[in-house]
Amino acid sequence: MKDNIILIGFMGCGKSSVGIRLSYRLRRTIIDTDQWIEQKQKKTVSEIFEESGEEAFRCMETECLRELIKTARRQIISVGGGLPMRKENHALLKELGRVFYLKVTPETVYERVKNDTTRPLLQVEDPMERIRTLMEKRAPVYEACADVIVEVSGKSFEEIIEEIERNSK
Ligand code: S3P
Repeated sequence: MKDNIILIGFMGCGKSSVGIRLSYRLRRTIIDTDQWIEQKQKKTVSEIFEESGEEAFRCMETECLRELIKTARRQIISVGGGLPMRKENHALLKELGRVFYLKVTPETVYERVKNDTTRPLLQVEDPMERIRTLMEKRAPVYEACADVIVEVSGKSFEEIIEEIERNSK
């Protein structure tokens, strides 16, 4: 166990915005797996999906976890929404640190991402329907992966951060 705080959850659950605030509070640096991959590949996530396909991106996510296990200590790690769906990533996440699942409703996600064009999986005619279907499939996996579940809908950043801080020791 590497003493990192890991944030998992659906797209738009607030992993990045909670992660940044948490990093100020705890004076830890933050790593985002999407950004890590984008820097390494010198491409955006959308470009990777378009040019190489989703499976290639999923392999990059696993590679990212393996690298972080070697290097990341006492950091906050915000993880792409689909990463926990790969079975082999579960043990890697556990090895990397304490896993917090930021649980959100489909309605909140929709409100946050409806104008977003950077998430290839939501560039469909009916994003709300896609969010519901994906979330139904993913929620049990996120729960199985998590050490701590944090309900985020309707809570302030302050409340969320305090809950994570309380449970991080
Ligand atoms: C994805 C979530 C995205 C990004 C990619 C795929 C997913 O990350 O990894 O678009 O499958 O849920 P965020 O959860 O940070 O949006």
